Amino acid sequence: MNKLELVRTKVQELYHSKNPHRDEWSDWLYKNHVLLVAKNAHELAEKYGASEELCEIAALLHDIADIEMARAIAGHEERSLAIAKELMLEAGYTDGEIALVVDDAIRYHSCHGEERPKSKEGLILATADSLAHLQTDFYIYAAWSFGKTISLDELKNWVLKKIERDLNNKISFEDEREAARPDYEMIKELFSR
Ligand SMILES: [Fe+2]
Repeated sequence: MNKLELVRTKVQELYHSKNPHRDEWSDWLYKNHVLLVAKNAHELAEKYGASEELCEIAALLHDIADIEMARAIAGHEERSLAIAKELMLEAGYTDGEIALVVDDAIRYHSCHGEERPKSKEGLILATADSLAHLQTDFYIYAAWSFGKTISLDELKNWVLKKIERDLNNKISFEDEREAARPDYEMIKELFSR
């Protein structure tokens, strides 16, 4: 098995291990989000000339703490970085590859405020993640999951802020942004009612 296959297999095993502390939509996220982000990242890497392997690895590992904890719990992002590093080391990736994937692409893929990944692989991960939010029923499941603990107004506010970050901060390629714009507009209209 090559390094990429090792990581794919390990990630699948971890999601399928059904840790009791994982969030209730963790299984949905693996099947419908993580694997789709990986597919998007691979295709974008081909299209925009980046490492297909590292883009796919970054996508497979970008939310990896979902295997053992809910996203709302403090430390989720740091835990994802630690698990990602561990799995890449185990698979035999170099320090340079790990630094690019973990300390740049995964660390900055959420594009909060002015933060952006520096590498093309990081920009591709952020774009791939955003497209998987806007072009699927991700926000329906997110609203169902997060909506249990917050008011409807808080939920709408959360979605409306997150879709702005998805469209405007996370997508670095103009074609991809325009392709996602109708989906963004639909979600925005729905959650503005
Ligand atoms: Fe994600």
